[in-house]
Amino acid sequence: MEPPIYENGRTAALQALPALLLPWYGKNKRDLPWRENTDPYRVLVSELMLQQTRVEAARAHYVRFVRELPDAAALADCPEDKLFKLWEGLGYYSRARNLQKAARAICENGFPETAQALKRLPGVGDYTAGAVASIAFEQPAPAVDGNVVRVLSRYLGDALPAAQLRKRYAAELAPVYPAGRCGDFTQSLMELGATVCLPSSPLCLACPLLARCQTKSDALPLPEKKAERRHTNVTMLLFYAEDRIALCRRKSGVLAGMYGFYTEERALRADELAARLQEAGAGGAAIGRHAAHRHVFSHIEWEIDACLIDCAGCEEAVAAAFGVAFYPIAEVRQALSLPSAYRWALRLFPQQTGAERRAE
Ligand code: ADE
Repeated sequence: MEPPIYENGRTAALQALPALLLPWYGKNKRDLPWRENTDPYRVLVSELMLQQTRVEAARAHYVRFVRELPDAAALADCPEDKLFKLWEGLGYYSRARNLQKAARAICENGFPETAQALKRLPGVGDYTAGAVASIAFEQPAPAVDGNVVRVLSRYLGDALPAAQLRKRYAAELAPVYPAGRCGDFTQSLMELGATVCLPSSPLCLACPLLARCQTKSDALPLPEKKAERRHTNVTMLLFYAEDRIALCRRKSGVLAGMYGFYTEERALRADELAARLQEAGAGGAAIGRHAAHRHVFSHIEWEIDACLIDCAGCEEAVAAAFGVAFYPIAEVRQALSLPSAYRWALRLFPQQTGAERRAE
């Protein structure tokens, strides 16, 4: 059975939010140009700008944008180069393109007034739809961004990463939206996150939620769990002939387009390696010592088994069979950009430098 609504501490805490936040917002809200009025077009422009740009950076751009393009019709007709010039410095130009497409749709069909209908506009997701519906149309539509998740996770004491809380908060906030103050309520949550409930060192003593806050610190939300790195066995073949070493250009994967030693993404057994060389017509190549090394990329970890192979006299066969080319080792050291996943192996060649010998 569902617990009775007023005996649930969590529900009561959520219901207390408008009464705690609205008076604080009235006194403390920043004077921002998109707060001059709630014209839906101006709100849409500001929310699209603020999706990936900080308030201070967006401010001047916003003023210029709505001065040059004061309504959806002006934006719909704006030449692309002028539009991009107005957007210059904000980055993510697809937002500008989407905004213009949205303006054209608005000119054709009118301005959508609910979060659900707003989401059909290009570039408008849950967050922006909630922001525009609540600020411009006084709909009880939550807009849960990173700031709002931070505020609520601390206030409610939800010890989870932000990504796991967003949807839940949108569902929990909708019923507590105060009629007639929906836009202010959305902005009060954002404002508290932006100015008081800061990511680190929050200003708890200035917070209107302090008395009921379960956390009173920056301990929440929990950091996102890092994606586990995939471990891959990599066999790296270090072919050399006198003062030249063999490199290839990587065709795919994390280092596509970069120079590197020949690798295979599996552990190659000694008998398999000998057979491969034999098949390549490089049976005369001498397999030398092995070295183990781990290289950590952001998402992958290579467990490398590097193997030196002296192929003096059979370079051509090796080059043809393994798709490598031979370069003077001195040139590789000085002139080539070799990713660090490979560079460490330079010290293994017999032509190692004094510094490399000392590093071993
Ligand atoms: N960030 C996103 N929307 C905002 C708004 N309307 N005011 C302040 N910061 C915001």
